[in-house]
Amino acid sequence: QTAPGVTWLGTPIGKLRRMPECGGKLPPLKDVPDQHVVMIRTDLLENCKVPIPYPATFLDTWDDVHVKMPCSNGNLFPVDDEVKLEVFLINREAAVVYGKTTNINRSLAVSKVLERDAVEHLFDSLLPDMVQLALRASELCTKPIPLLKRGMSHSITMSQEQVACLLANAFFCTFPRRNSRKTEYCNYPDINFIRLFEGSSSRKIEKLKTLMCYFKSVTEQKPTGLVTFSRQRLDKPPNWKSSPTLLTRLHITCEGTIEDDGYGMLQVDFANKFVGGGVIGAGLVQEEIRFLINPELIVSRLFTEALDDNECLIITGSQQYSKYTGYSQTYKWAGCHHDTIPRDDWRRRCTEIVAIDALQFRNFLEQFHPDKLNRELNKAYCGFSHSEKESQNLAAVATGNWGCGVFGGDTRLKALIQMLAAAEAGRDVAYFTFGDNQLMTDVHNMHSFLTQRNISVGEVYDLLGQYYSSVCKNCLRRRPDISLYSFIYGQVGSSEAPDESIRGSAG
Ligand code: AR6
Repeated sequence: QTAPGVTWLGTPIGKLRRMPECGGKLPPLKDVPDQHVVMIRTDLLENCKVPIPYPATFLDTWDDVHVKMPCSNGNLFPVDDEVKLEVFLINREAAVVYGKTTNINRSLAVSKVLERDAVEHLFDSLLPDMVQLALRASELCTKPIPLLKRGMSHSITMSQEQVACLLANAFFCTFPRRNSRKTEYCNYPDINFIRLFEGSSSRKIEKLKTLMCYFKSVTEQKPTGLVTFSRQRLDKPPNWKSSPTLLTRLHITCEGTIEDDGYGMLQVDFANKFVGGGVIGAGLVQEEIRFLINPELIVSRLFTEALDDNECLIITGSQQYSKYTGYSQTYKWAGCHHDTIPRDDWRRRCTEIVAIDALQFRNFLEQFHPDKLNRELNKAYCGFSHSEKESQNLAAVATGNWGCGVFGGDTRLKALIQMLAAAEAGRDVAYFTFGDNQLMTDVHNMHSFLTQRNISVGEVYDLLGQYYSSVCKNCLRRRPDISLYSFIYGQVGSSEAPDESIRGSAG
């Protein structure tokens, strides 16, 4: 057991690697056909200047491999040919109408949510500024934005100003073909904000306040950085069974959060396969909160098709604009946040977030099945591995109860899976138990037990398989009588000489 007052265990957090200190030098930023689309002039990148869009004029495409833009000539109302109206005009009008009549109706806003001054600012200044920003799409987002489709390993780098313009369009719901998920975009997340304006729950209002803080910031002062969105596919999963790799270091704490205390680390987004999950709708847990306080993440929904089992999305350079308190039902916007994270050589904030979607389990035993274990190990490994880099250049993974809230996974199993994946990827782990003291102690004890005995990734994998075949398989629907951690202590202990066997605490 751990003494009262102990809030962390394992390696001190200060010893774990963070960006920018640990990163090597970045290669020059450049557009690489079929790999990396860069939407700005890389030769004119200067500190503190707003990046210049590339190319100079709008390149209009309307096909099924690029984002369909609101300002495209192809954006016509699907009516008969004669009445094809130019939708740029329609959108201009629609945006203005939206600006005037958005569901945040003045009187409602005054009486229920905002002070009179804030309402005046919203309708007389902020919304009109957002309309202007949305209307600059053809001037700012001149290069066609590729859809990051299933199976592609591909990156997009754009300026924070371009992101802001796209998000202003999302706010006014101008992205064509994106108002219903029934048609060509059925395998993409929602991008138009329609559902955000439905109903008047306090959760929606707190979400809107958080997002309006972002729009206020970017309309008052143009952001000057870049953001990269990378879809990554894992082609060759590790051979888990025969891996001789030893576990890496673990810092585990019951205090703090991934976003605050894991700065500069590879921060895990407990994602939905539709990245951002319910951020525009009803959801308000880890992923949605992160997308609200760092709203640039939301633009990934415009072009990222649902993630497959062997895929992840990495977003580098998003900025935090808001603070919050509470969680889920008690979530509240808590004012603007001034982000001081340094920028890298590509003018991106050194904030790297990896979206990996866990499996949702309704039955407790299911997650111990070898197929599910492999899926989760490979998903985590896909997120954590960065094959081109040396281990000493890799920041630690900042994670926690991935897949164990809404998705119903077992924290002790998932902690072990993430430790194996991080070890294989050559990264240390900072684990935030989100207030769970017992979990902190149990995972720390297991980690110490395994590392003291030099038990490899392959051996732990084998123990997981044994637990399934000798305990879970016979359980039918009941929860197993013997926990995973007790089983591991028992199995390893019984194979050791009696005087050497030290039984740790049973999880
Ligand atoms: N830092 C560290 N740990 C946290 C934080 C934080 N900021 N926030 C929450 N936790 P959950 P899932 C802990 O339920 O089960 C979304 O809708 C806390 O213990 O968000 O993978 C997605 O879009 C919490 O219970 O992740 C998916 O649809 C636990 O992490 C779905 O939820 C799990 O958080 C994913 O669900």
